[in-house]
Amino acid sequence: MNLILLGPPGAGKGTQAKRLEDRYGLRQISTGDMLRAEVRSGSEIGQQAKAIMERGELVPDAIIIAMLAARVSMPDLAQGFILDGFPRTVPQAEALDVVLKEKAMPLEHVIELQVDDAALVERISGRFTCAKCGEGYHDSFKRPRAEGVCDQCGGTEFSRRADDNAATVASRLEAYHRQTAPLLPYYASKGILRVVDGMAEMDEVARQIEAILGPLPPKA
Ligand code: AP5
Repeated sequence: MNLILLGPPGAGKGTQAKRLEDRYGLRQISTGDMLRAEVRSGSEIGQQAKAIMERGELVPDAIIIAMLAARVSMPDLAQGFILDGFPRTVPQAEALDVVLKEKAMPLEHVIELQVDDAALVERISGRFTCAKCGEGYHDSFKRPRAEGVCDQCGGTEFSRRADDNAATVASRLEAYHRQTAPLLPYYASKGILRVVDGMAEMDEVARQIEAILGPLPPKA
């Protein structure tokens, strides 16, 4: 099963993608995570993307499409994938259609997580992750069970993203409304767009998504 989680920054795409990985055996493909890894490694793509991401703008389509096409050619996607943060423009969506058709990988669902802009700013500004295992937390909505200690790995170092500040969040939201929201009619016209109330609490959002995806696949 292949699907896209679509929604503005902070809508909960990454949070829900991780749950679907565990529950359905799908692989999360996050173009934001891939770009941050390129920035950390100091690669050519990373050097091109760093300043753009810090301004909250979109990295050029040509870079992202090449990166995504290489990723979906990898052999670990037999059970399916969840695209998180891609596509973000109509040209990216059109390129995705071409790549998936070539590989005979049909796209079954596009799930929009709908969240008010005001809630997004609070979600993003409170977000932090374990520096060791990447587990995500939030100052108000999801704190570690023991203060300062990661629930998953026991790590004690945490980090916040460079683009999670008020000015950059405003520009990321603007980019979403101007460049990414046109994907909603694009996928609605294909009959595969479904909408979930992303304002609900995390477990309820997960339940709504599972109701769309249907029963769990049999264990391999
Ligand atoms: P990317 O990394 O994709 O960031 P984003 O889309 O801005 O999304 P986020 O990761 O901020 O949010 P999310 O929806 O995953 O929310 P999360 O689950 O963490 O992109 C970063 C940058 O890379 C872009 O600005 C761009 O420059 C570049 N880029 C990436 N892809 C690109 C592309 N295709 N084309 C061009 N450029 C690209 O949740 C947020 C917080 O809220 C968490 O703390 C979580 O605990 C909490 N939370 C989640 N769900 C709930 C809930 N239901 N209730 C309460 N709190 C919740």
